[in-house]
Amino acid sequence: MEAMIQAAAEEIADAELYKREAELFRREKVAGEAVAPVLAGFAAEERSHMEVLLGMLSMEDMAKTKREPPPRSRTLRDALRAHLERELRSIRLYEAILRSPLKPRDRLVLKGILAEDREHLDKVVDLLKHLGPDPS
Ligand SMILES: [Fe+2]
Repeated sequence: MEAMIQAAAEEIADAELYKREAELFRREKVAGEAVAPVLAGFAAEERSHMEVLLGMLSMEDMAKTKREPPPRSRTLRDALRAHLERELRSIRLYEAILRSPLKPRDRLVLKGILAEDREHLDKVVDLLKHLGPDPS
């Protein structure tokens, strides 16, 4: 249950973060226009992950979800690097949750969420490659 509570907290933060960054980086010269809709799509998916997880938690468990303020990145590259770490962390959490006993339906839903977070990770890696090496 601890991993589930932590995953819910991560999803809440990720949904908020992707949404904010989609707006923030829309005007970025290099890749902003291409990246913003991708980030907005991720935000919507993370929000749906969050809703699924909160539906699996009791009110008492929900109260334990620590809402840490998500990090603020100054550049698109920094934001994507942070997401790379965050998506990896979420993937590990879902893998841990899936190793524990679950109702068959919950297992199926959580596998779907894990697959989407793996897609996010792949896409973030692609976007970082597209941005090229760090100029600084
Ligand atoms: Fe997620």
